[in-house]
Amino acid sequence: MALVHFLFLLSIFRVAFAATAEQWRGRSIYQIIVDRYALPAGADPTACDTGKQTWCGGTWATIKDNLDYIQDAGFTAIWISPVNQNYIGERTPYGDPYHGYWIQDISQLNDRFGSADDLKALSDEVHRRGMYLMVDVVVNNVMALSQNPDLTKFMFKEQEQYHPYCSVDYTNLTSEQDCWLGDTNVYLPDVNTQDSTVVSTYQSWIKDLVQTYNIDGLRIDAAKHVNTDFWPQFCGAAGVFCIGEVYETEVDNCSPYQGPQALDSVLNYPMYAALVDGFAIPGALNLSAIADTMAQSKQKFKDPGLLGNFLENHDVPRWGNLSVDPQSLYNAMAFTFMSDGIPIVYYGQEQYFYGASDPYNREPLWPSNYTNTTAYQMITTLNQLRNFLVNSTDDWLHSEAQLLTTTPHGMSVMKGNVISILTNIGSPPANTSIAVYTPFENNFATTDILSCRQWAVGSNGTVEVQYTRGGEPVILVPSDHLQGSGLCGYSAQNGSSKAAANVSSGAAAGFSRFDAMMTSAVLVLLSLGSFVFN
Ligand SMILES: *[C@@H]1O[C@H](CO)[C@@H](O)[C@H](O)[C@H]1NC(C)=O
Ligand SMILES: *[C@@H]1O[C@H](CO)[C@@H](O)[C@H](O)[C@H]1NC(C)=O
Ligand SMILES: *[C@@H]1O[C@H](CO)[C@@H](O)[C@H](O)[C@H]1NC(C)=O
Ligand SMILES: *[C@@H]1O[C@H](CO)[C@@H](O)[C@H](O)[C@H]1NC(C)=O
Ligand SMILES: *[C@@H]1O[C@H](CO)[C@@H](O)[C@H](O)[C@H]1NC(C)=O
Ligand SMILES: *[C@@H]1O[C@H](CO)[C@@H](O)[C@H](O)[C@H]1NC(C)=O
Ligand SMILES: *[C@@H]1O[C@H](CO)[C@@H](O)[C@H](O)[C@H]1NC(C)=O
Ligand SMILES: *[C@@H]1O[C@H](CO)[C@@H](O)[C@H](O)[C@H]1NC(C)=O
Ligand SMILES: *[C@@H]1O[C@H](CO)[C@@H](O)[C@H](O)[C@H]1NC(C)=O
Ligand SMILES: *[C@@H]1O[C@H](CO)[C@@H](O)[C@H](O)[C@H]1NC(C)=O
Repeated sequence: MALVHFLFLLSIFRVAFAATAEQWRGRSIYQIIVDRYALPAGADPTACDTGKQTWCGGTWATIKDNLDYIQDAGFTAIWISPVNQNYIGERTPYGDPYHGYWIQDISQLNDRFGSADDLKALSDEVHRRGMYLMVDVVVNNVMALSQNPDLTKFMFKEQEQYHPYCSVDYTNLTSEQDCWLGDTNVYLPDVNTQDSTVVSTYQSWIKDLVQTYNIDGLRIDAAKHVNTDFWPQFCGAAGVFCIGEVYETEVDNCSPYQGPQALDSVLNYPMYAALVDGFAIPGALNLSAIADTMAQSKQKFKDPGLLGNFLENHDVPRWGNLSVDPQSLYNAMAFTFMSDGIPIVYYGQEQYFYGASDPYNREPLWPSNYTNTTAYQMITTLNQLRNFLVNSTDDWLHSEAQLLTTTPHGMSVMKGNVISILTNIGSPPANTSIAVYTPFENNFATTDILSCRQWAVGSNGTVEVQYTRGGEPVILVPSDHLQGSGLCGYSAQNGSSKAAANVSSGAAAGFSRFDAMMTSAVLVLLSLGSFVFN
């Protein structure tokens, strides 16, 4: 009796840690390659050569000891690279499995990155800070150096638990699901996820992994390469949010992987491609691609608010390798936080890393000295605003982002009552402007939370942004709603009084509070509703 009672309590205790899609919706994720995030004390900080494709020394313990850098930037979750045992042996033509994606025995932890206790300690520390832990899992395939590997090394030891070798034909879905990823240097034998023993073994494996390490969510590698009907039961057994890697940039090809018949969510590759098209400098500078992707996403994705928005990861070139202008990063980044979806920042994005594709996009973070850069500060502000909106405003999180304006070089997106005005003109000052027709009344007071400048809406709801200081993003929040945000001089506690003055007699009642500390420093052109950067 007592044991039954204890097990019941234990199950409740465990459920309390697992997080659902709804709980993840409001989170903000920092993505980490475990080997590359932080060094143990005493290690040589100059020894890591990205091009060598070998271990550089990061572990679960070094992440645990360096979480302030992530939490201080406002992130509420981390995603770590795979934790399970990888190939052990001679260096391959593509180096060593420092990244964690070359699974050998998935039933074991990867002792390169620490012990079971180290992983539990990381999980505990993440939770102590009120953050979530997302772990990357690779179930589509294992890794081998030949077409006939020694199966005794793997968790699945029977021939029929793998699909027979064939190379992937990317025009044939069955082939994408059943053939082997990788190439003839490094084979990725395809696990037969239609085999009933494989299905049930994977289910008990993931349930145990999630419970043992109190994992809150899963990032699923190569999710497109597994028969889709595998996922509902697998994620059901895990009992946590699942976000899959579906490397498809067309909404039509990507959207079928989100929903009850597939996964909770997928990484937002369609929007990633559109953001590159729209903002990268040099580049197509085609903002219509973003408008088009937004429209299609609303129509075709089950729930765009759960998609994982990103500008970088370990499979694509760094933003800085595609775009030479920091303002293009800032504008695109503002979109990933202030539109629909869960923002994900890949470690090093905040340090302006500029490596090309694999392996150059997996740089060690420590040579940056974890500097408090302008990008880091901007991310901190974006997280602070988003975290505030998530908990304080009337369902900002569930309101669908609307496109208010598109011009050849600018766009504005409104989600809830927050209006982001973005441009791809880059850093050089330009004699151009973007006029946005907002639904706000004349003289409505807003604050750009990036510059802390006050703006008043002009006649006909117009806000005009001029770029005489270059193409900086602008994020307008009704000033009234910033009380409690801790942003731009507003108190971090709701309810505390603050010096305030009305804009003018014409101001709409209730929307007229200006920050007295700011008013002397800002220029508000009430008649035009415009502000000139200077
Ligand atoms: C698609 O790939 C599967 C698996 O390799 C193969 O059996 C099938 O013949 C292919 N279909 C076509 C139309 O090529
Ligand atoms: C810009 O993107 C739109 C929407 O995706 C596309 O129809 C159009 O062809 C693109 N224009 C250029 C110049 O690439
Ligand atoms: C892209 O990355 C490669 C390799 O890391 C580097 O040589 C090149 O300079 C980078 N390009 C840009 C524009 O940063
Ligand atoms: C990090 O610190 C080292 C040692 O002080 C210095 O040589 C290096 O230039 C710094 N790097 C950056 C990016 O600040
Ligand atoms: C980064 O610098 C900004 C501006 O000086 C400061 O407000 C912020 O607290 C710093 N962040 C950290 C983590 O030191
Ligand atoms: C929102 O509030 C809940 C409950 O107080 C808290 O658990 C969560 O961490 C908060 N979310 C954010 C993003 O601050
Ligand atoms: C601040 O508190 C008031 C009253 O307690 C509440 O009506 C309002 O919604 C709160 N505002 C924010 C931004 O949390
Ligand atoms: C900016 O553009 C306006 C209207 O197109 C023009 O009147 C003005 O002279 C321009 N200013 C500069 C500094 O080029
Ligand atoms: C007023 O705003 C609407 C959009 O809300 C726009 O179509 C119209 O041109 C604007 N009128 C003037 C005079 O600016
Ligand atoms: C602002 O204006 C409202 C209505 O016009 C008035 O009731 C209020 O006292 C004014 N507040 C301040 C601080 O002047």
